[in-house]
Amino acid sequence: MRIGVSLPENLLNRFDGIISQRGYSSRSEGIRDAIRGYIRYYDWMSDVKGERYGAISLTYNHHQRGLADELADIEHEYIGTIQSTLHVHIDKDNCFELIVVHGEGIKIKELTERLTSLKGVEHTKLTTIVPEL
Ligand code: NI
Repeated sequence: MRIGVSLPENLLNRFDGIISQRGYSSRSEGIRDAIRGYIRYYDWMSDVKGERYGAISLTYNHHQRGLADELADIEHEYIGTIQSTLHVHIDKDNCFELIVVHGEGIKIKELTERLTSLKGVEHTKLTTIVPEL
């Protein structure tokens, strides 16, 4: 099937840079791979349950209207899950945040998905480990 997608120019430029470095024969092949990776990540996320330690990393543009307040509101809702937050200013506009979490995996995943869906949040990644007995 053919689909049409609109993307910000800088995102497309970065994507094209990566697919040319990696030797993809076409942009379509790179996009198919990216979609497969997205689906794999979502499937892996669905398996996050039970007690976990983890880290959610995200980048965002702090000029996005209302975003800093929304992030703070959500983080305060998850006081029992969030152990610590590290904030790094990347440049004039962008911030990196590392949120250390401990608790029920389902809740950690729910927090990650809420952060991911916020407008202005550009990248999120969740990693978790199962505590060894
Ligand atoms: Ni910052």
